Amino acid sequence: MTITFIGHGYVGLVTACIFADFGNEVFVVGHTKEKVARLRKGDPIIYEPTLKELLKKNLQAKRLHFTLDFQEAIPRSEIVFIAVGTPPKDNGEADLSAIFDVSRKLAKYLKRGLTVVACKSTVPVGTNKKIEAILLKHKPKGAEIAVASCPEFLREGTAIYDTLNPDRVVIGTSSKKAAEKLIELHKSLNGKRVMTDLASAELIKYTANSMLATKISFANLISFYCEKTGADVETVLDAVGLDERIGRVFMNPGVGYGGSCLPKDVKAITQTGSNLNINVDFLKAIENINQTAQKNLIQKIKRYSPGKKIAIWGLSFKPDTDDIREAPSINIINQLLELGFKIFAYDPVANTNIKKIFVNKINLLTDQNKPLENADALVILTEWNEFKQTDLKNIKKLLKYPVIFDGRNLYNPQLMKKLGFKYFSVGRKSVL
Ligand code: UGA
Repeated sequence: MTITFIGHGYVGLVTACIFADFGNEVFVVGHTKEKVARLRKGDPIIYEPTLKELLKKNLQAKRLHFTLDFQEAIPRSEIVFIAVGTPPKDNGEADLSAIFDVSRKLAKYLKRGLTVVACKSTVPVGTNKKIEAILLKHKPKGAEIAVASCPEFLREGTAIYDTLNPDRVVIGTSSKKAAEKLIELHKSLNGKRVMTDLASAELIKYTANSMLATKISFANLISFYCEKTGADVETVLDAVGLDERIGRVFMNPGVGYGGSCLPKDVKAITQTGSNLNINVDFLKAIENINQTAQKNLIQKIKRYSPGKKIAIWGLSFKPDTDDIREAPSINIINQLLELGFKIFAYDPVANTNIKKIFVNKINLLTDQNKPLENADALVILTEWNEFKQTDLKNIKKLLKYPVIFDGRNLYNPQLMKKLGFKYFSVGRKSVL
């Protein structure tokens, strides 16, 4: 099949590479000259494990084409995926301007006969109907369209694995022909097929992300109870998670969820609910707890840090990505700077992105051990693998005081006690 992706973020680029790898001819339309030039040379722009190799392989095979020109891609395509960003507006609503803009642009170049236009971007319920109206208004005579909603469930850091092995492929459309074409395109992917209508497909995506955020905030809420009562959050959640109705996955307490999806989507579904006159107190609580999780860590640092020189490990919003959008690290660093702390930080891949935000306000180091030298305490914000089994005795040697604030519960408190650390983690007894 010949298909087009409009947008080359995590969703657009990863999915385009995978469909190209299956032997399809894939066009990717971007809107920044410099980025398209980099992509053509095999530079994925974003950091995602093994994406570079997949990109290069399919560029070399000439199955993957990057362009700025809608006209080069759209008239040849049987399916056009919209995969542009829907960032939050100030009021939390999803900004759909890019979606509507590309819909207008692509409509002009639709060929005679049927083109399936499928939206992969996360959009509030009702948006695909608006896309359909725009396409119908701007399409040339003789062009037919069928609109579909195909939400994406990949996670950053494991995007390629997730795309190849989704739990489900959701296809929302009222067009039989569109459904058939999309089923055919997705046939090499694992996972169950969910065939549904547009509105349900749109809502499935928000339901999934707000449920995931709920699990995290619930785990954090229970961690607050544990800290006040001396209970141990990991034991509580492990025990509760043994109940198959509840489960243990995605219930890790910490400094809260970040990234370009969960925070934005919880805000957007809250806003949609308000617009529909639905009581959204529950959704608001998810976000409040997330913010409290960050405040708790800052309180601990304020109270127990022996000095103002702090080392930080982990800046990306989660491991295996250089993405810092809505990363807890940004808020926490800002607060610590306001409190007069001096920061020496390290992240395996996100230093460059963090530098764009803080410029010279913090010191970024490329060696994991460097920020520790003579620092008054270490703060851990992202659970990169390389921090998990690091040489704790060496940390103790390098720090001025053996104090760790662990926002991701990486180490065993008993062991930390034995090694002579003061150790503050989340929802577990502090080692004082
Ligand atoms: C999320 C969803 O997991 C994907 O299914 C979805 O496709 C994607 O959003 C999207 O909408 O595009 P992602 O943002 O890549 O994926 O990252 P997650 O793995 O969901 O992690 C989000 C945040 O939650 C991270 O900051 C992570 O540290 C935090 N988290 C995760 C916790 O604090 N505790 C947990 O138990 C799990």
